[in-house]
Amino acid sequence: MAKILVLHGPNLNLLGTREQSIYGRVTLETINRELVDAAAPENEIRTAQSNHEGVLIDEIHGARSWADGLLFNPGAFTHYAYALRDAISGVALPAVEVHLSNIHSREEFRHRSVVAPVCVGQISGFGWRSYLLGLEGLLAHLNEKQTD
Ligand code: DQA
Repeated sequence: MAKILVLHGPNLNLLGTREQSIYGRVTLETINRELVDAAAPENEIRTAQSNHEGVLIDEIHGARSWADGLLFNPGAFTHYAYALRDAISGVALPAVEVHLSNIHSREEFRHRSVVAPVCVGQISGFGWRSYLLGLEGLLAHLNEKQTD
């Protein structure tokens, strides 16, 4: 049984209506439901979204007391938010970074992720399914760690 915090960064509350040609039509609520279903019955998912860096940092700090791992789409914070990177490395929880779009095929400023170096891995470009793939990778990582 693993407990996972799924964290969504800025503007992801607008999914479903926001730039549909890039991010698709699936809402955040649907993504969260899919993740809860995919994780059940063995694993527990809690979800949170914020447009504020400090709130995301507080969520990461809070996860230290209950979660085994983080599944995180930091939105545009991905590209410059060093405090988020420090929060992830500070709590020392395994984290997987996910993006709906392929950040490497878009504008140059999106090519760099400052959180990637403190994550187990990154999934980018599979639309909302990036979250499912990221969850699968994170759970496999946690299971392997347990049997080490
Ligand atoms: C995003 C990619 C970011 O560059 C962008 O700022 C987002 C969404 C994605 O999921 O594709 O807000 O993280």
